[in-house]
Amino acid sequence: MDTYVNLATIIVKSMEESVKFYSKVMGLEIDSEYNLGPMGRIILMRGSGNAMVELIESSLYPVGFYSVGISVSDMDEAITKYRAKGAKILGEPVPITGGSCAFIEDPNGVRLAIICKTKWNESMFEQMNPTHSEALTEILMARHSVKSFNGVAPDKSDVELIIRAGLRTPFAGIPAMGKKDFRRIFVIPTDSDLMKKIGALHFEAYQRNVPKEPESLRDYDPKVMDNQLRKAPYLIIAAERKGMPITYMSDNSISLSYCMFGMWLKATTLRIGFKLVSSFIATKMGNNEEFCELIGLPCGEYALDACVIGYPADNYSPREVAYPEYESNVVWL
Ligand SMILES: Cc1cc2nc3c(=O)[nH]c(=O)nc-3n(C[C@H](O)[C@H](O)[C@H](O)COP(=O)(O)O)c2cc1C
Repeated sequence: MDTYVNLATIIVKSMEESVKFYSKVMGLEIDSEYNLGPMGRIILMRGSGNAMVELIESSLYPVGFYSVGISVSDMDEAITKYRAKGAKILGEPVPITGGSCAFIEDPNGVRLAIICKTKWNESMFEQMNPTHSEALTEILMARHSVKSFNGVAPDKSDVELIIRAGLRTPFAGIPAMGKKDFRRIFVIPTDSDLMKKIGALHFEAYQRNVPKEPESLRDYDPKVMDNQLRKAPYLIIAAERKGMPITYMSDNSISLSYCMFGMWLKATTLRIGFKLVSSFIATKMGNNEEFCELIGLPCGEYALDACVIGYPADNYSPREVAYPEYESNVVWL
């Protein structure tokens, strides 16, 4: 287990005065700042090495030296060892931003803060903290297919946020290489003339391309395009360049699933409903010349996927879904 000394924590009388001292007199620089609201604020100051001075301005603690911070690579192992060797544990480990912290006491009564950073590259996930993790769980639980909308159009600024989330999702590198237009998004207001034309082409293509009977395709049955929309104000079509190798040549782009899911999660956070319209894949609209010309996309070069977004209808509640259970479907080998 690695152990290194990296922090001296001081409760300060005045943050301004202390920062001035540690910067102007001691030559340190501000590394980061945290505002704890009514709990006070923290400024970390760094010299040339990795160790830092932590200045805390808070009325909750007496002014003066507070603790020496010691980082360990494994909190459980560290605490078990300290306990076995008779060290006094002042505070059991608790989660802090980016890891956990415990307090023990040295033989002189000096407090030692034992800090364990989460076990990955710290700088990569610097922005992440437990609140984000909890929020994502909430978002995943709230996400559902919305199959019926109230017709009110979300603000364009919110639609833009949703699309930006979709653009920020993973893409297959090889087909995208050297191409600035490897992913394109088209927003179509469903009350437009363009939508009428798209609906007609989509229906025609549906009749030509989609086998009639299979149970699994029931959802795609767009007797008219309106069935798919059910008053959704916007249809969003995402297009991803196809390309070599063979994994990425299909009309059913793997990348677009990520794009859709990114938009779906963002829409959920904005309380905007989302429904996949994957019949755009089944109907091979990306290879349909008339359709591609309508939206201004080179025919046959892109895979497509689509969704509709809007506010859920007042009486709409999501279908009960039997998600796979962890206990019976997850195998740790
Ligand atoms: C690849 C894929 C394609 C889908 N296509 C459609 C679709 O065309 N129309 C639709 O209403 N829902 C579609 N869905 C949504 C699923 O039916 C839905 O996610 C699933 O039943 C779980 O329900 P939930 O989204 O409410 O959690 C699709 C989902 C996936 C993963």
